[in-house]
Amino acid sequence: MNNIKNTSLLRATCSANDDAIAILNPANGDVLTHIPLISVSDIHKYIERSVLAQKQWQSTTAAERSVILQRWYELMLENSDDLARIMTLEQGKPLAEAKGEVMYGASFVQWFAEEGKRTYGDTIPSPSSSKRLATIKQPVGVAAAITPWNFPIAMITRKAAPALAAGCSFIVKPANQTPLSAYATAELAYQAGLPRDLLIVINHHSSVVIGDVLCEHPDIKKLSFTGSTGVGSQLLKQCASTLKRTSMELGGNAPFIVFDDANIDDAVKGAIASKFRNAGQTCVCANRFYIHDAIYDTFVEKFTQAVSELRIGNGLEPGVSIGPLIDERAKHDVLSYIDNAVSQGATIHYGGDSLDGLFVTPTVLTQVSQEMDIVQTELFGPIAPLIRFYDDEELLTHANDTIYGLASYFYTQSIHRALQIAEKLEFGMVGINEGLISNEVAPFGGVKHSGFGREGAKQGIDEYMNIKYLCFGGY
Ligand code: SIN
Repeated sequence: MNNIKNTSLLRATCSANDDAIAILNPANGDVLTHIPLISVSDIHKYIERSVLAQKQWQSTTAAERSVILQRWYELMLENSDDLARIMTLEQGKPLAEAKGEVMYGASFVQWFAEEGKRTYGDTIPSPSSSKRLATIKQPVGVAAAITPWNFPIAMITRKAAPALAAGCSFIVKPANQTPLSAYATAELAYQAGLPRDLLIVINHHSSVVIGDVLCEHPDIKKLSFTGSTGVGSQLLKQCASTLKRTSMELGGNAPFIVFDDANIDDAVKGAIASKFRNAGQTCVCANRFYIHDAIYDTFVEKFTQAVSELRIGNGLEPGVSIGPLIDERAKHDVLSYIDNAVSQGATIHYGGDSLDGLFVTPTVLTQVSQEMDIVQTELFGPIAPLIRFYDDEELLTHANDTIYGLASYFYTQSIHRALQIAEKLEFGMVGINEGLISNEVAPFGGVKHSGFGREGAKQGIDEYMNIKYLCFGGY
């Protein structure tokens, strides 16, 4: 962990012992450091502290909370080089991409520092002359989150910032692969003046045990989860016993459609950005490509050329655009998806190689058809399956033929087609002539088995607030 200038960002680390987990660098398998694990009784103590802290926090003004969040945002920017380096070391993504994620993560803190001041209620025209009606919004209480390894900072701030701005306290369980970014980001919040009990990072030997406690504890009023549909569905069942509010940002299977009238160079650029961001390990990654027959050969040629220019390697090295996969299991899964597609008739047009360590070459598959397993699987890796299509109606049926409904993308130069297709795609987000759609001001979230709730945007803070209706009688 050398070259981290602000060593206070590593305060939470410890030396190797039985109650610590080793944090590995996926680029070379090195042990970076260790993180202490806590017991179940400690988790309960943290929850008690979080309850007390929240009661005080909710009585501060939105403006007071905003000042602390704004300072947190500034500290994230001031420490962005260190945060990015920590992220690349534990997660593997290229340094420039990690820096991009730090800025993306910080943008949620800045956005909600402002949005916290705009949690308006309503006055409601009364149906009765003797009554006056209004609503106010109030924080839900203690909010908890379980966050993934693919965006170790942004998926925390996208939840923590609205929660804190709303007047909630926040407990987060980051992924065991990437807790350093979580602790470092929290440390900056404390340095910004946030009381420690308002933002608590916890880790335990077993994610399942933490999930049990967070879902079933009556004092936790809200759970926000980003991760797989399978785990999300399990957590939802567990949250039922305490009727907890939940937000679920789950799996995706994004279609990336290129119509015959598309600007092919733009489509190739968007396809590379959408598919290979974070080595294909994002929920919104283009997962299957539908290319119109009339432009299929040209697209394949240009896309393959662009893929061949991607440089694989340790994300700390200059010029690297694709880092390692997160762990052995991820690599095994990616290779088995490729093998399975080939066994069902697909052709490896480019890549498909297993390299040393956790690296897999970016892969272009052709001769792919709708019936193949790869079309229905969330790939979470650098594989681009290309499907030829002929007809818009059939294309739409195929694009919507998935349990998932998170992101989708298409390229066309026809405004008429753009509106029609955008309305008919059964996904929470649609990129039109654009492969990168995420930012702090837009509502991020899915439909169908991709979950529910919206993060970022003006809607994101409502996930952490209850509406209270006030009826004034006696007029
Ligand atoms: C995700 O993959 O879970 C989030 C991606 C994003 O915020 O763009």
